[in-house]
Amino acid sequence: MNQPKTAAHWWQETVVYQVYPRSFQDSNGDGIGDLQGIIQRLDYLKTLGIGAIWLSPVYRSPNDDNGYDISDYEQIMAEFGTMADMEQLIHEAEKRDIKLIMDLVVNHTSDEHPWFIESRSSKNNPYRDFYVWRASVNGDAPNDLESTFLGSAWQFDDHTGEYYLHLFSKKQPDLNWENAKVRQAVYDMMNFWINKGIGGFRMDVIDLVGKLPDKKITGNGPKLHDYLQEMNAKTFGGKDLLTVGETWGATPEIAKLYSDPERNELSMVFQFEHVGLDEQPGKSKWDLRPLVISELKTVFSKWQTELGDQGWNSLFWNNHDLPRIISRWGNDREYRVQSGKMLAILLHMLKGTPYIYQGEEIGMTNRIVADISEVEDIESKNMYADRMAKGYTEAEILISINAKGRDNARTPMQWDTSKNAGFTTGTPWLAVNENYHEINAAHALADHTSLFYTYQQLIALRKKYPLIIWGSFELLENTTETVFAYYRHYEGETWLIVCNFSDQKQTFSLETTVEKVIIANSEKDYSTLLNRTLEPYEAFVVKLGGNVHA
Ligand code: GLC
Ligand code: CA
Repeated sequence: MNQPKTAAHWWQETVVYQVYPRSFQDSNGDGIGDLQGIIQRLDYLKTLGIGAIWLSPVYRSPNDDNGYDISDYEQIMAEFGTMADMEQLIHEAEKRDIKLIMDLVVNHTSDEHPWFIESRSSKNNPYRDFYVWRASVNGDAPNDLESTFLGSAWQFDDHTGEYYLHLFSKKQPDLNWENAKVRQAVYDMMNFWINKGIGGFRMDVIDLVGKLPDKKITGNGPKLHDYLQEMNAKTFGGKDLLTVGETWGATPEIAKLYSDPERNELSMVFQFEHVGLDEQPGKSKWDLRPLVISELKTVFSKWQTELGDQGWNSLFWNNHDLPRIISRWGNDREYRVQSGKMLAILLHMLKGTPYIYQGEEIGMTNRIVADISEVEDIESKNMYADRMAKGYTEAEILISINAKGRDNARTPMQWDTSKNAGFTTGTPWLAVNENYHEINAAHALADHTSLFYTYQQLIALRKKYPLIIWGSFELLENTTETVFAYYRHYEGETWLIVCNFSDQKQTFSLETTVEKVIIANSEKDYSTLLNRTLEPYEAFVVKLGGNVHA
């Protein structure tokens, strides 16, 4: 059970770092992060110890959705640089043993992609069937499918008098995956990138490509897995690349379909069950409720145990679509560093491949806006317009945006105390969080007790101890509600991870022998675990000796 079913893969043993290029490092003063900026910061990432970078889209794009609307998959966005810069980035990263994972956005393109320009030009254009076109029904849209960014998913196009499908913005028309030519064009493009020496793909909303819009089926359509098996065979199969699918609706059963090694689809998926725990059931991400820690325990335990060796987990708190974890489920005030360390230890001791989102390793926080004019993100802006029309108050809407808006994660990386946090010498495209004077990478690097070094240590531990990679997971029951504790077992060895997920002291007691402390966010003595008081957000990992009494 504990042994890998097949040979170990590099992507099971590494930690991935997500770079959102627009906000990472500007090298030419135009206020927009770029590829040369990333190259400048590779040594920082090497110091952290990560083995791969997931690069959010850098392809040519009119930026309706910050690069997730692509108008040319084989060209680099002018603001980010050139293909020569991209090749240099791949090469410079490789020198530091870091692989580049490209974002693969193929559920849709931009409406400015040449395929779509052709497609919309006439009903008998050879590219017409590259997209999903439908005639109107009684003078109206074909059905009431909704876009993720609100409003109808169907857009009427005057020129040919038909509707096209867009599950995201109307500048993101959906590709028609039922068309074999579309699939082949995607595979050719993937091979173009594989031949450049990249380490894999993160697949944007990949669970939507099997959609049957006439039946109003979007996620997990009947042909989804056939397409992925075909993609695997025609592109990365046999090359040991890291492939991770973004799959919002995945359950463990569904995740196994993607990541069972015997099915030849993907390495792993991002599942989002934990991410939805602070939403009101059945409502949207904007409808908030407090996180219940016991629910988080249940969800993580389920994913840790149910995939078994028929699948592989990805582990994350943050990405470019989610608010900052310290502000969300930690404490971004007096316990910022302490809660950040607890969250890091809790996640990185689980089984799976961890992902760090830029700035997480220095404890960056949400940036609060006071007015909608400070918001850039299309999703938040659409929600604002929608809810204003529905009669919500402006104050209510801003509470949701400040809690969940995607700009929270997208403010520029905070490097140092110089102007604009060292991100740009110009005017940043999105305002820097004012707390950069205190929270920045230079401070973190200069302080050996900083969150940065906890992340560095966690990454190093993963390289040293196979238990972290292969050990089985067991939840420790009977703790207080906000103490999240679990065991990892591997080849007769047991580690215990204990995390106080709250800003209150908690009690904890376990009769056991501690052999050694692996990592902790306090200097306390852990030689006995009987009748302990845990400080707010205290977290520790110990190797147990002798018999374990659960
Ligand atoms: C994914 C991306 C998100 C984007 C959407 C449409 O969810 O992570 O940023 O807006 O897909 O491409
Ligand atoms: Ca720039």
